[in-house]
Amino acid sequence: MTVTIGPRNHPAYWAFVLHRVSGLALALFLPVHLYVLALAIDDAARLDRFLAWTEGPLVKAAEAGLVVLLAAHMAGGLRLLALEFLPWHEGQKARIAIGAGFAVAVGLAFLLNAF
Ligand code: HEM
Repeated sequence: MTVTIGPRNHPAYWAFVLHRVSGLALALFLPVHLYVLALAIDDAARLDRFLAWTEGPLVKAAEAGLVVLLAAHMAGGLRLLALEFLPWHEGQKARIAIGAGFAVAVGLAFLLNAF
């Protein structure tokens, strides 16, 4: 007997995976980000040392990855909100592609300014 779980290799499935992974990554990043910002009040010298460390190329690359995930999550989230609250639109694949393109473009713009 074959158990079919569902159509997995479809742009909408990968959009779902990207939305979940990006949402979780952002949720993990946020408390760390707030903790580092709080150093400005608690321990300014430690914040300065941390900010100097963030100038390294690996950290910049990781930041670019996070920026891409945030842009992808925002574009994907707006597509999902439109899907839920506006009349149905056939062009979901095109909207997913536009969202992915937007995320890559935002990441490249960040990198142009980062190095
Ligand atoms: C930038 C604007 C954002 C928009 C427009 C947005 C939109 C959405 C939407 C519509 C959903 C529900 C998806 C569904 O129906 O399955 C969602 C899920 C989620 N979002 Fe956001 N979001 C944004 C920013 C963020 C941020 C900043 C974080 C974390 C700090 C975040 C974390 C999450 C998580 C963890 C989920 C659950 C993912 C899942 O269950 O697959 N989002 N978001």
